[in-house]
Amino acid sequence: ETSAALLLLWAVIGYGLGSIPFGLLLTRVMGLGNLRDIGSGNIGTTNVLRTGSKKAAALTLLLDGGKGAVAVLIARAFAGDDAAQLAGLMAFVGHCFPVWLGFKGGKGVATFLGLMLALAWPVGITCCATWLATAAVSRISSVGALGAALSAPFWAVLLGYADAVLLAAALATIVVWRHSANITRIRAGTEPKIGQK
Ligand code: G3P
Repeated sequence: ETSAALLLLWAVIGYGLGSIPFGLLLTRVMGLGNLRDIGSGNIGTTNVLRTGSKKAAALTLLLDGGKGAVAVLIARAFAGDDAAQLAGLMAFVGHCFPVWLGFKGGKGVATFLGLMLALAWPVGITCCATWLATAAVSRISSVGALGAALSAPFWAVLLGYADAVLLAAALATIVVWRHSANITRIRAGTEPKIGQK
């Protein structure tokens, strides 16, 4: 049993890590313009790619995913599995609702993949593969994100990670909700393909 105070501490650490908006910071530092005025205005990898910089996009993916993974790994090392799940969830929440940006953050996809890889790597790997497969077929990043997120609870069940099912379902729900504008565009046939402005 991890004490409530300790869990709260890991929740705060997870949130703090997750709330670092790497896409926004990198594009600013690299002089790529204001991400909010580009494409969807989102702070994630897909929109960073719309600046034309593959390097900035790759770094954003790595760092936004990495912060989710780091939150899980350090919480698990210091306080065990419950703290790891909570820190991962809160890193995801921090990315989507960062206090520094008036709670207007990203859609959580990279952070979700990173925390899943750290929490239950076979589930993380199959989610990444699902992203790649659905994005390859559709050529649309948000379709990949929705496919990966929605498949996560099923992968957790199929691969025997019962502990991760509830978290995966919660994350999937928030990812779908954060993509409501994307879903409207997908249905209208106006969602841009990967790399398009
Ligand atoms: O991960 C976010 C992606 O699924 C959609 O990004 O910028 O097209 O809304 P964006």
